[in-house]
Amino acid sequence: MRMKAAILHEQGRPRPYAQSIALSIEEVDLVPPGPGEVLIEVAAAGLCHSDLSALEGIRPRPLPVIIGHEGAGIVREVGEGVADLKPGDHVITVFAASCGTCRYCVAGRPNICPAGNAARAAGTLRAGTRRLFQDGKPINHGSGLSLFAQFAVIDRRSAVKIDQDIPLDDAAIFGCAVMTGAGAVINSAGLKAGEEIGIVGLGGVGMNALFAAVSAGAGRIVCVDASPEKLALARQWGATDTFLATDPDCADQVRAATSGGLDKVVEAAGVMKAVELAYAMTGLGGCVVCAGLPDGKSRHAYLHADLVSSEREIRGSYMGSCVAERDIPRLLNLYRRGKLPVDRLKSGYLPLEDINAGFDRLADGTVLRQILRPNG
Ligand SMILES: NC(=O)c1ccc[n+]([C@@H]2O[C@H](COP(=O)([O-])OP(=O)(O)OC[C@H]3O[C@@H](n4cnc5c(N)ncnc54)[C@H](O)[C@@H]3O)[C@@H](O)[C@H]2O)c1
Ligand SMILES: [Zn+2]
Ligand SMILES: [Zn+2]
Repeated sequence: MRMKAAILHEQGRPRPYAQSIALSIEEVDLVPPGPGEVLIEVAAAGLCHSDLSALEGIRPRPLPVIIGHEGAGIVREVGEGVADLKPGDHVITVFAASCGTCRYCVAGRPNICPAGNAARAAGTLRAGTRRLFQDGKPINHGSGLSLFAQFAVIDRRSAVKIDQDIPLDDAAIFGCAVMTGAGAVINSAGLKAGEEIGIVGLGGVGMNALFAAVSAGAGRIVCVDASPEKLALARQWGATDTFLATDPDCADQVRAATSGGLDKVVEAAGVMKAVELAYAMTGLGGCVVCAGLPDGKSRHAYLHADLVSSEREIRGSYMGSCVAERDIPRLLNLYRRGKLPVDRLKSGYLPLEDINAGFDRLADGTVLRQILRPNG
């Protein structure tokens, strides 16, 4: 079938993207789903900072590529062997493709499945297949999803079926920001009721970490961002304390206010300054959970003897350490009960044609989650 999609031909074009046309809206061919794959109509796709990083070129991608990794859609066709999804079903997409059988998948860590990772690097679907073409030449798949398009062919395991009463615009945000932010708190940090948590970086990911921290009964929630507006929102939404990241003594202020630092600190800004700040905000025996994704070369230095003697921890968190089939239904239950109010994060809707202006706004830091509706 023919469809419209936003293609990334070249990384690192200058801002404003609305002028440099970082993403070009073009017609492409999408071939039918193969065995174990499904065709979905993309109902809604969120603009995530990781997509912005792809435009900026801070992590190289195989080009040309159709990106877009946070979304929800409606199944339109299923490939051979797919017995548990049918046309008309609603799904949330999963950006970390997984095989289901390797040692990581069977150990409950499909988010770090090497086969999924290799497919992502190669620009293919999980099985190594390609379904996107233009003039007979392949276009790379982004995260095995390519949601900045009207339709997508994806691996069966890259979709989780949801109930039809969930609005698809809200459902889309669960595909990345909710799993990543809430998962970082619940799964990666394993926050216990009463523990004191910090969150550095209050974008779509960080705000979901805040919602989860409130919901999990954190004793104290210290939010830090470079934007005073984001801090004001965080206070409305349950932060007990807020600090401005741009204050040179921000970490000292946090330590003074919290008797030496926090039990858990989630970093969701994606810059090394924020990682350093998160580490400095952590108290004795505390754990830094890093969800932000800077370029592939950045390093973090720490005093190693201090890490040992204070039993601090630093850990990564990819897709919130989620098992999508397990965690999406759990997170949707919290949403239904008003505990994950993702509708508050929506900063407007966009047609495909306005996607570049949307990324300009995300880069300006003035929005939370903008929702693309590729089919109007
Ligand atoms: N680990 C994962 O699985 C995963 C998934 C999604 C996104 N990400 C990454 O998470 C990060 C956040 O994504 P997002 O979509 O929420 O981004 P966003 O642009 O919506 O939010 C980033 C926030 O960080 C703040 N910030 C910038 N510099 C800061 C600093 N020095 N200290 C404190 N705050 C600072 C900004 O003001 C903004 O509020 C990005 O790096 C993204 O690539 C990771
Ligand atoms: Zn994302
Ligand atoms: Zn696997």
